[in-house]
Amino acid sequence: MTPSVFRYAGGDFAETVIARASGSYVYDRSDRAILDFTSGQMSSILGHSHPEIVAVVRESIARLDHVHSSFLSDDVIAFTGALAALVPDPLEKVLPLSTGAESNEAALRMAKAATGGFEVVAFDRAWHGMTGGAASMTYSGGRRGYGPTLPGALVLPTPDAYRSPFAAGERYDWQAELDFGFELIDRQSVGALAAVIAEPVLSSGGIVELPQGYLTALQLKCTERGMLLILDEAQTGMGRTGTLFAFEREGVVPDVLCLSKTLGAGLPLSATLTSAELEQRCFERGYLFYTTHAADPLPAAVGSKVVEIVVRDRLAERARELGGYMKALLGELQQRHECIGDVRGRGLLLGVELVEDRQSKRPARELGLAVARRSLELGASLNISRRQVANIFRIAPPLTVSREEIDSAITILDQAITECAGRPGPG
Ligand SMILES: Cc1ncc(COP(=O)(O)O)c(C=O)c1O
Repeated sequence: MTPSVFRYAGGDFAETVIARASGSYVYDRSDRAILDFTSGQMSSILGHSHPEIVAVVRESIARLDHVHSSFLSDDVIAFTGALAALVPDPLEKVLPLSTGAESNEAALRMAKAATGGFEVVAFDRAWHGMTGGAASMTYSGGRRGYGPTLPGALVLPTPDAYRSPFAAGERYDWQAELDFGFELIDRQSVGALAAVIAEPVLSSGGIVELPQGYLTALQLKCTERGMLLILDEAQTGMGRTGTLFAFEREGVVPDVLCLSKTLGAGLPLSATLTSAELEQRCFERGYLFYTTHAADPLPAAVGSKVVEIVVRDRLAERARELGGYMKALLGELQQRHECIGDVRGRGLLLGVELVEDRQSKRPARELGLAVARRSLELGASLNISRRQVANIFRIAPPLTVSREEIDSAITILDQAITECAGRPGPG
């Protein structure tokens, strides 16, 4: 069907070809509407083709499209200022880039330049991107078959309350798990620890929320060792989880913050933010990281508009409210379907884990694929994360989604599970 497209992700292209998109929907060639509950690639927080974004792109491409990286533009000055005003102190310096992986590469180089170390710790189910450094810190896919990763890549167990060996029934001793993880790190380290890089909600790792208190404890581990805390809010930033940034729930401000995906609301825009002090230290040590599109005016103009709309339309609050509503609906589904082992996440970033049965918690792999396929036929695009090892639906509609659209998507999911599982659960 698409003979010229390189199969970049295991060849799992949907049969549906998308012709256009608007609001919470994508449309196929026959103009059939499909609810987009993945926000494109977890990015389109304003829905597709938001009229104000369309206007900015039109105006921008005609006025100032692209410049040499040594030139600043008013668009970039305005965008970095708007973003700096949005984040808490001491974050105030913004490096504008294009992709999530790039924002993490820039952060890793900042940590190395600032600390003089090179060892970086990441969760064993993290996804930070496919470029060299970011891929070295990525464990939830794409690891085998590409030769050596960066020296100094160390792992910390993902604190998964549903599956951790440190969890027993309702009790989950995540602090013991974190302590154990750092004991191993300290033993492996060659004395050059630079940073921890973490997603506040591991998304590709299966919608795993860091337990309440975990970030504070993690920051303490970093401080004790002179490491920087890098938070990768590619998917959680800009209101997705019910606060502007997921780290706000605990008031833990990272040393370096990486934003992408949601920042451009569907356009390629990312940013790496840090304090003036760290920026100065990096500068003095000859920090270098730039790309062809660093500080491009067009995506920067889009970024300013995204910031404006997210704040003006109180989209974080909206995500909190609608996320609570959708989570309650998913909880009801869980009551009726034995195969739903867990419902988790916060705001409009929710996970539904399918299992063969709730005792064994064995992943219901075939079932998940069938449910995703059937949902698409019925008119909702729902994505599975960790599909090689588990079956976790990652449900993340645009923050502009309506209650009626949520109702429709959940009805479709309900029907798809009922049909594919053969029978509803015990109830
Ligand atoms: C948390 C996180 N960080 C980084 C990335 C990489 O972003 P990109 O694909 O834009 O390089 C992703 C992509 O899925 C992600 O989920």
